[in-house]
Order: sequence, then structure tokens, then C-alpha cells
Amino acid sequence: AFEQQPLRVEVNGVAQQLSVEPRVTLLDLLREQLSLTGTKKGCDHGQCGACTVHVDGQRVNSCLTLALTTEGSKVTTIEGLGSVDKLHPMQEAFIKHDGFQCGYCTPGQIMSAVACINEGHANSPDEVREYMSGNICRCGAYANIVEAIMEVKSKGGRI
Ligand code: FES
Ligand code: FES
Repeated sequence: AFEQQPLRVEVNGVAQQLSVEPRVTLLDLLREQLSLTGTKKGCDHGQCGACTVHVDGQRVNSCLTLALTTEGSKVTTIEGLGSVDKLHPMQEAFIKHDGFQCGYCTPGQIMSAVACINEGHANSPDEVREYMSGNICRCGAYANIVEAIMEVKSKGGRI
């Protein structure tokens, strides 16, 4: 067994003081220790993007991120993006444009989409396709996802 180590990290605005084994990924920490199951485990190998979250505003594949490396960081998951009462504009746009079917890839798509705009990589549908290419959708909702992102982008500014 590995020895647990202390981890202080802010998740969706809440300061957490945790004890974590060095081998635990951020994805498993979120889902199993913090019960934040909105972040999905698709491949667990960095190939599908279903596990995308933000660490200090940057998108990461949480399945490839060791939890302990987030010491002192701010992590945002899909649960922290909007609320039930007030959806995030990207969540609204995904609904409006039917940017999902089964929904399994959707939390990762939305976290990636927000980052894509904030990185300045949403200037055309082609660019969006390129910078969203790490997020796989087995249902093939890509065209609608691009539409949703372009609409949010057209309103301007960081989101
Ligand atoms: Fe992390 Fe697939 S679950 S990239
Ligand atoms: Fe089903 Fe994307 S909506 S995998």
C-alpha cells in the first residue's frame, strides 16, 4: 500500500484538505473521494476527453493528472461551471443546439469548449474542430457542438 499524503486544493470554490495516495488521479479523486461524478471516465488513457476539467483555468485530462500535482490549485468541474438555477452560457448553447445525444461526453466537451474560447482558439468552425479534437463523441454530435461554441463565441469576451 502507498502512504497517503496531504493535499490542499480548491474544488469549485470550496477549499478541501484531503489525504491522497500518490498514484490517485485527479479524475478518481473527484469522482470517488468528492462524489463529483459529472466528470466522466471514458478511456482513462488520455484519448477521449470525457474527463476534462480546468486546473487554474487551463483544461486538463483529469485521468492523466495525478491528484497531488494540483496542490494549491483551483479545480473547476462541470458542477462548478453553472448551477441548476442558472446554467453557464455554454451549457445553454449545448441545449439550444442539441450538442449531445447520450450525454456521456458532454461534461468534457463543455469544459473543453469554455477553455477553447478563453484560449482564443474559436475563431472559425475549422479552428474549433481542431482545438476540440481531443474530445471524442461516439454519438457524432460534432456539428451541433461546433454550432454551440460558435454561438457563444459570437457574443464575445471570456466566458
Ligand atoms: Fe481521460 Fe478519456 S477518460 S481522456
Ligand atoms: Fe454521446 Fe457524445 S453525446 S458520446
